[in-house]
Amino acid sequence: MTDTPLEALTLVKAWTGARERLKAAGIDSPAIDARLMLETAAGVSRTDIISDPYRELTPEQAATFDDYLARRAAREPVSHILGRKGFWKIMLGVSKHVLTPRPDTEVIVDSILAAFDEHRHFTILDLGVGSGAILLAILAERPNAKGLGVDISSEALAVARENAANLGLESQVALLRGDWTQGLGDATFDVVVANPPYIPSAHIESLEPEVRDYEPRLALDGGTDGLDAYRGLAPEILRVLKPDGVFAVEIGFDQSEAVEALFREAGAEDVRTRKDLADKDRVVGGAKKPLGNPFPNR
Ligand SMILES: C[S@@+](CC[C@H](N)C(=O)[O-])C[C@H]1O[C@@H](n2cnc3c(N)ncnc32)[C@H](O)[C@@H]1O
Repeated sequence: MTDTPLEALTLVKAWTGARERLKAAGIDSPAIDARLMLETAAGVSRTDIISDPYRELTPEQAATFDDYLARRAAREPVSHILGRKGFWKIMLGVSKHVLTPRPDTEVIVDSILAAFDEHRHFTILDLGVGSGAILLAILAERPNAKGLGVDISSEALAVARENAANLGLESQVALLRGDWTQGLGDATFDVVVANPPYIPSAHIESLEPEVRDYEPRLALDGGTDGLDAYRGLAPEILRVLKPDGVFAVEIGFDQSEAVEALFREAGAEDVRTRKDLADKDRVVGGAKKPLGNPFPNR
């Protein structure tokens, strides 16, 4: 009897087989997910897969890839499997303790960068900092800015701290465990950003498994109507803003009217909503009234 050597697993065969397996498991983006996991498991680039498709995986690489595929087929997000996620222009470490940063949230980053040019000295507070996505993406492009990130989850803060260190931003950022603005005393900031939990509690069970089963509840659950966090945050954000300071908060696609109203009631000026790339309402922003001129015209 002769031993039939196992057929070697090449990059192209691994990718094609993985796509089929993920598609059969009901994954929305099987080709992209399979490629991202293959790149990491086999230590190759996207170009390698195309230009050197018959390169063989080692048995260890094939086993790692198989493990990734089994986890993805069980609906674990790619970001958790690989432990990282790109956001804006930075790469962030992520874990089950933080919300995986979303492209939708980049609208906040874009708005603040547009309002503060690269030479500006300013202070920024990120309430519910999570992985650090918003705060670190802004600080990475504004070397004269200093930021404080607050989160109630010490596990999330550990992720943000490691991301700040990996991006070389430790000298610009401080991280504090706390319940929103409690514990900030009378500190004030030029900019306040937040992406609070805003999913109505009863909707959470109907979310896709990647979110429902793997994202922290603390990052999702916005109470009965999804607006619990904004009710407390609107007056508090106005309190911790400097006169003429600006804020930007992420919202659910159908929350613009309610959240705008909460900020207007809290005294904010110039309150408006910005849409995301899918043309859905995504960010409510505005400003705190400037200090009046102490020498008004007589
Ligand atoms: C939707 S996630 C946003 C994370 C990150 N800013 C982002 O945009 O990817 C909300 C974050 O708020 C934090 N959080 C929830 N309740 C909080 C509270 N009472 N005080 C401070 N942070 C809170 C959660 O731990 C979570 O990290």
